[in-house]
Amino acid sequence: MNQNLFTAVDSYIDDLYIPHDEALEAALQKAQEMGQRRIVISPNQGKFLHILALLCRARRILEIGTFVGYSAIWLARALPPDGRLITLEREEHHAEIARSILAQAGLSNMVEVRVGDALESMSHLEVEHSASFDMVFIDAEKEPYPDFLQSSLRLVRPGGLIVADNAIRHGQVIDHNNTDSGIEGIRHYNAELASNPRCTATIVQTVGVKGYDGMSIAIVR
Ligand code: DHB
Ligand code: MG
Repeated sequence: MNQNLFTAVDSYIDDLYIPHDEALEAALQKAQEMGQRRIVISPNQGKFLHILALLCRARRILEIGTFVGYSAIWLARALPPDGRLITLEREEHHAEIARSILAQAGLSNMVEVRVGDALESMSHLEVEHSASFDMVFIDAEKEPYPDFLQSSLRLVRPGGLIVADNAIRHGQVIDHNNTDSGIEGIRHYNAELASNPRCTATIVQTVGVKGYDGMSIAIVR
């Protein structure tokens, strides 16, 4: 692994394609201050999500795991003026930070940060908004990833996308001696997606400032 090279190439990509942006940088700064920079997606991963949302012409997006709102900014900026992002966050403190950063980004009207257990929030959403989201982005605790998937399958419309961060975890997913509950969660997520007849899926391996990981992408038919 040549982490220095991956980091330098990430900077190269960011210099080319990621314009300076106060709100995005404020979100990263906040994560850094909290000692949690590593759990936020990288700038060019944010751009990648933004492009996926544009590709599926997303009007309604659901995000599982808000943290400081960094990925929420990228996703919400792909929405049309009447679009909506609902983002789920367990910690009230994180939700407050995210709301203030989203306000700074001018996105308060388009983004709703819902606090609570994500699976509970999702089961409420299933009642009112079954099969109505164009895209779901999963980037929260890893152990319940398979449950997030099952609920997402009920929430996404036919033709919609389910995207999940951290699908490879430095290659730990293929080390079957690794029985960490988070790794097991991701492994089950990947396997369930593979065997689901409604999904066409793959994983894009990623390297960069966050090391070696992967982004899972599925289209639901
Ligand atoms: C870590 C990275 C992530 O992208 C995430 O969502 C959670 C944890 C990590 O490296 O610890
Ligand atoms: Mg992640």
